Amino acid sequence: MRIIKAKDYADMSKKAAAIIAAQITMKPDCVLGLATGSTPEGLYAELVKMYEAGELDFSNVQSVNLDEYKGLPRDNDQSYYYFMNHHLFSHVNIDKANTNLPDGTIEDSEEACAQYNAILDSFGGADIQLLGIGHNGHIGFNEPADTFELLTHCVDLQESTIKANQRFFASYDDVPKQAYTMGIKNIMDAKMVLLVANGEGKADIVKEAFFGPVTPQVPASILQLHKNVVLVADEAALSKVEL
Ligand code: PGA
Repeated sequence: MRIIKAKDYADMSKKAAAIIAAQITMKPDCVLGLATGSTPEGLYAELVKMYEAGELDFSNVQSVNLDEYKGLPRDNDQSYYYFMNHHLFSHVNIDKANTNLPDGTIEDSEEACAQYNAILDSFGGADIQLLGIGHNGHIGFNEPADTFELLTHCVDLQESTIKANQRFFASYDDVPKQAYTMGIKNIMDAKMVLLVANGEGKADIVKEAFFGPVTPQVPASILQLHKNVVLVADEAALSKVEL
């Protein structure tokens, strides 16, 4: 694992965006595994800037997103479909037909997951998978559990995740309680994993995930077994780790 220490959020966003930009430059028809959440917002803004400056071409890029709430219409501003369009897809020349997310509007979980697994299979793993990390160690919506779920599945979100997401909704009751998420194997199939983390609030989980035991109780800890992981984090998120 490589750890890249950034000064602050802005610096983390720039450094992580530079890695994704290098991937697109090296392989213009690459498959980007993308993530939502507050952490990657800044790096998407950096990618948009590079595109606007004529430095990046997304026309042959394909993308697969980690997860999506179950039951939110796509035009709901909290759906991850909306997030991706708002923060990236609508601002660059990516072909929307080449962007993929689990379809949260499909009521039948089995059907939704089978459909997304078939899409992921057709790519055979992302060239680079971007990840954030939850305070409980989740990646995508793979919550702490007794076993690692391998493929796309429907999850019941943990109380702590629902509470963490409540800030984006009018009330607790409005937060979706289930989501479709790539499984651990889908994530580990990526040729490279880029995890971004910032802020003191992530310091304990960054230490636990990357320096503690590998366990499904801390889903991100599985990344210790991946051959090509880069962690880009700011000083605050790395404050409990000795480098
Ligand atoms: P955050 O979420 O970027 O909003 O902190 C990260 C995650 O839950 O994966």
